[in-house]
Amino acid sequence: MNNLHLFYSMELVVQLDQIHEAARMFLQKVEGKVFALHGEMGAGKTTFISALCVALGVSSGTGSPTFSLINEYVFVDKGKSNSIFHLDLYRIKDEAEAINAGVEDCLYSGSICFVEWPEKISSLLPDDTVHVYLTVTGEKSRLLKIADSATKF
Ligand SMILES: Nc1ncnc2c1ncn2[C@@H]1O[C@H](COP(=O)(O)OP(=O)(O)OP(=O)(O)O)[C@@H](O)[C@H]1O
Ligand SMILES: [Mg+2]
Repeated sequence: MNNLHLFYSMELVVQLDQIHEAARMFLQKVEGKVFALHGEMGAGKTTFISALCVALGVSSGTGSPTFSLINEYVFVDKGKSNSIFHLDLYRIKDEAEAINAGVEDCLYSGSICFVEWPEKISSLLPDDTVHVYLTVTGEKSRLLKIADSATKF
């Protein structure tokens, strides 16, 4: 793991009842295609990814929990359909299994890609992946730390 990831240039406190504002703010401030969401079980990775998808204009499909490794959502921007990939790698054994499942095709597709449990495929992630670290700070509150190289100023 690159030492850079020990330094953060943006922190965002996300309250559950303001998660949609937080998602919009995140998208305004942070530039990237592949987003690695780190955090323990229940840290709020899926919940925040769903809010990001809503903020991007995905109209259906993110609310209902699915248990597949790769989920694809679609949003329309300026009349054009775009895919978003949501990878939940919790159940994969190793990188070979992820490659067989087509994870690299998503990561290098040019589409936005949100990754839960990115530690499982750390050597497959693109260099410019935005690393986001979630920690539980209260029943309804989470702290998001976003790694340095990702923040737009
Ligand atoms: N500020 C918050 N942001 C996100 N989730 C929150 C927040 N406050 C409370 N929660 C709750 O915490 C839980 C987070 O669950 P979620 O499935 O998003 O976690 P996860 O990190 O994806 O876990 P897993 O590793 O099991 O996939 C949800 O029940 C959600 O409602
Ligand atoms: Mg999850």
